[in-house]
Amino acid sequence: MSPISTRRHGDVLIVTSNNPPVNALGHAVREGLVAAIDQADADEAVKAVVIICAGNTFFAGADITEFGKAMQMPMLPMVVDRIEACTKPVVAAIHGTAFGGGLEVALASHYRVAVPSAKLGVPEVKLGLLPGAGGTQRLPRAAGVQKALEMATSGSPIGAKEAYEVGLVDRLIEGDLEQHAVAFAEEVRDVRPIPKTSERDDRIDEARANPGLFDEFRKAQARKFRGFDAPEANIKAIEAAVAKPYAEGVQTERQLFMQLMSGTQAKAQQYFFFAERKAAKIDGLPEETRARDIRKVGVIGAGTMGGGISMNFLSAGIPVTIVEQQQEALDRGTGVMRKNYEATAAKGRMSAEQVDQAMGLLTPSLSLDDLSDCDLIIEAVFENMDVKKEVFGKLDRIAKPGAILASNTSYLNVDEIAASTSRPQDVLGLHFFSPANIMKLLEIVRGANTAPDVLVTAMGLAKKIRKVAVVAGVCYGFIGNRMLIPRQTQAMQLLLEGATPEQIDRVHVEFGMPMGPFQMADLAGVDIGWHRDPNRIENIRDALCAIDRWGQKKGAGFYDYDDRRRPSPSPKVQEIIDGFRANAGVTAREISDQEIVERTLYTMVNEGAKILEEGMAQRASDIDVVWVYGYGWPVYRGGPMFWADTEGLPKIVEGLKRQQPRLGSDFTISELLAGKAEAGEKLAR
Ligand code: 3HC
Ligand code: NAI
Repeated sequence: MSPISTRRHGDVLIVTSNNPPVNALGHAVREGLVAAIDQADADEAVKAVVIICAGNTFFAGADITEFGKAMQMPMLPMVVDRIEACTKPVVAAIHGTAFGGGLEVALASHYRVAVPSAKLGVPEVKLGLLPGAGGTQRLPRAAGVQKALEMATSGSPIGAKEAYEVGLVDRLIEGDLEQHAVAFAEEVRDVRPIPKTSERDDRIDEARANPGLFDEFRKAQARKFRGFDAPEANIKAIEAAVAKPYAEGVQTERQLFMQLMSGTQAKAQQYFFFAERKAAKIDGLPEETRARDIRKVGVIGAGTMGGGISMNFLSAGIPVTIVEQQQEALDRGTGVMRKNYEATAAKGRMSAEQVDQAMGLLTPSLSLDDLSDCDLIIEAVFENMDVKKEVFGKLDRIAKPGAILASNTSYLNVDEIAASTSRPQDVLGLHFFSPANIMKLLEIVRGANTAPDVLVTAMGLAKKIRKVAVVAGVCYGFIGNRMLIPRQTQAMQLLLEGATPEQIDRVHVEFGMPMGPFQMADLAGVDIGWHRDPNRIENIRDALCAIDRWGQKKGAGFYDYDDRRRPSPSPKVQEIIDGFRANAGVTAREISDQEIVERTLYTMVNEGAKILEEGMAQRASDIDVVWVYGYGWPVYRGGPMFWADTEGLPKIVEGLKRQQPRLGSDFTISELLAGKAEAGEKLAR
């Protein structure tokens, strides 16, 4: 049965799409839409058309699962042109998300009405693409060039109210959408000529008067677009809308679309779209598993992590009790939280009332006993097994039955922590990333005894606080930090052999990472995990810590910093490195960028493959989600596992073998990686 049905209401033909879950514009929908417009044209009695969708949303875009396969006719560009060519006025009635191809259908319709909660956007750029069904040509004609540039290059949607203000929506509908859309269609049924977006020039003329607009936009956004192909292609297509007649602009759009579609970045970004959604699925749980109710959260420790963790829940309207040992630490911690909220408010992203509302949900306390009514308690105290065990032992006596007990540990064994309670089934790791109120990633660490409903609760809660969660098994550093270890080890070793922090960081930044290993160390604190004995100097890091070079917070680390926190290479650091090199009897040699890639990135891939073969990650794509959301791996490279596939696994294995003599005696090549390389298979697909 076709997902498109038609019925008459007076002289209006109502065309309804019912293609759950998101009314994606798959083949049957496209075919049905064309047939419906043909029907409207052919039927004398039809004077106007309403296109509306059943379920949660208007068309949320092209069907991404069809990408990369042979496209079946009619293609979307033909469908939208057919809609615009309809001889009866067509009204798009929008609720939910009119995204991508969905917005293109709406733009080809002659009028658009929307409920106030609707969102309109062209997220194609996030899939490494551009709106390829006339969207780059019609959007600037309807919404203006500046707005079109912003929407197309960010991929972020705008709300219906803003869409109304910029002219993208003709009327906001309160009440029943279909009923009002039909009434609107009745109002416009005799208006001639029927307005066609492709024929409008008024908004384009505004831009023609300001030719510098495109380069100004490029310059202002350059940092954000670094490394990505799709934003520039979107800009070029919109530039063509201004510079060329519509018919030629559409051709430029098509060429640019096909170029993007055949490139690696689009494949990587589309892969990642599904990777993110797969990550939410937990293997091996009974289907009927129900989440526990979480109404109140406890957090232990108001340090760097505890405060940020708490903010997630407060922002979601969930009350939090936060416990510290000393009043001073408690005041400092809650003070930082308020300051963070106030900074958000100063940027206009929160109102003063919302700040008070969030902080009003917080109860600071000096006693663990106050956590007895919490449904979830997250421990964020020092990274020390004895301290954690003591805290969990106490929690076991205090927490109510059925409460979930979580540790935010970065590395420690969650099963050992669970064993210090009489209820290991209620214990798991919830590993947030710093700054915890901002970073999107949450590793959910599944202990040997963690109950299915505890996992399901954690996954649901992650969604509620807008995190992307990935399930990890119990191993040292879980997924993300475990893969960081070989990278850090090799980066330090490379310094000794002749590379500089600047060279190693540059290779990582050129690769697309937001920063390199040494820039990251300086930002996070060189002293993290340091033994705090300035007389015990065993490596370069100890030497830096001993002379107070703890990173940006001290104005010096692997780099020197000026008072505006701009880094420059440090002669002092070089002197320290030279000293260690001399002591080790190593002669500095020229190190190629490729060697840095092989020793710091190939070794990460290798560790990822081990994580996979040990079953510590459910799937390769989960590892990629961790690295994109936890560490800023460039999404246009898909993630380390996907990237390894695009490099070619045999090349990775060869590189590792070449470097093996320098990788230390403990290093081994993952059997899974070697096996897949040998068999011509991939890690992530
Ligand atoms: N094609 C195919 N499947 C899609 C899809 C799409 N465009 N959008 C969502 N889905 C699937 C998801 O994979 C998921 O499947 P699952 O249940 O099997 O995991 C299901 O629909 C529900 O999706 P979400 O879990 O994301 O549901 P939410 O309610 O959280 O979000 C949404 C809904 C806002 C519509 C979100 O899914 C979304 O942003 N989708 C992508 C929209 C998009 O990128 N559109 C542009 C497509 S490209 C295009 O149109 C090209 C054209 O210009 C030629
Ligand atoms: P921190 O040192 O900033 O904060 C820890 C806080 O816990 C201190 O304020 C301390 O007073 C308090 N505390 C210690 N014992 C306590 C007890 N028994 N009862 C109440 N409060 C107690 O440390 P940070 O950085 O917040 O780390 C906390 C945990 O989070 C550690 O396990 C760490 O490995 C982990 N983590 C840290 C990340 C980071 O980037 N800092 C990232 C992810 C996890």
